[in-house]
Amino acid sequence: MTAALDALLVEDVDARGVSHHLKDAGEWWQAREYFAQRSIYHLKEADPHAWVIPRLQGQAKASLVAVEFDEYGGGRGARLHSRLFADLLEGAGLDSGYLAYLDAVPAEALAPVAMMSLFGLHRSLRAALVGHFAAAEITTAPSARRIAAALERLGAAPECLLFFTEHIEADAVHEQVLRRDVVGDLLAREPELAADVVFGVQATELLEERLGRRLLTHWERGATSLLTPLPDAPGVAVL
Ligand SMILES: [Fe+2]
Ligand SMILES: [Fe+2]
Repeated sequence: MTAALDALLVEDVDARGVSHHLKDAGEWWQAREYFAQRSIYHLKEADPHAWVIPRLQGQAKASLVAVEFDEYGGGRGARLHSRLFADLLEGAGLDSGYLAYLDAVPAEALAPVAMMSLFGLHRSLRAALVGHFAAAEITTAPSARRIAAALERLGAAPECLLFFTEHIEADAVHEQVLRRDVVGDLLAREPELAADVVFGVQATELLEERLGRRLLTHWERGATSLLTPLPDAPGVAVL
C-alpha cells in the first residue's frame, strides 16, 4: 500500500501526460476538449465519494468528511468544486449543463467515472473507493499546477484558471489527510483491506493513463479526441 501510494508521488521525468502537453505546447482547442472530457465527472465532483461515508467508521469517516466539506465549497454554494467547474466551462464558451457532453466523449472518459460509482455503491469495494480517492488527490496538485500554467499562457478567462489554482493548494492538504487519516485509520481497523486500497489506486492509474493516451494520440495527429468535435477543432468546417 505504501509503495503504491509513494509511486504516485514520484513523477517520472520522461512521463508526458496531458498536463505536460498542455503546459508546453497545448492549444486552446485542446484545452477545451480536455474540459469537455472531464465535465462528466467534475460537474458532480465529490458526489461518488460521498457514498462511502456511511461505510466508514471513526477517524477515517471524520477525515473523509472533512475533505468532502472542502470539495463541497466549505458551506459556500458558489465555491462548490462542481460549481467552479461549471464556471470554467462557461468561461471557455462551453455548455455547463450536466452530461451535456455525454455523447461527445469516448469510453475512456466515461470509465473513470463509472469506476467511482461502482466503488462508491458497493460496501465490499469501500476500500477501493478510498484508494481511488487518495490516488486522485495525490496526483491532482502537480497536474493542476501545469494546467493553470497552460491556461495562463493561453490567456484563458480567470474562471478557467480558478478551478485549477483552487486545487493546487487544497489537494496538497487533502493528499495528506487521505493518506494518513483516512487510509491509515481504515487499515489500522481493517488491515485485510490493504489489497483493496491498492486495487483502487491501480485501477485509477490504469484508467487515467488510458484516457490520457486517447487524448495525446489524437492530438499528435492534429485530430479531435472527442467523438463529436467542438466547433473550433481542426478539420471542422466553419459555417
Ligand atoms: Fe476538488
Ligand atoms: Fe481535493
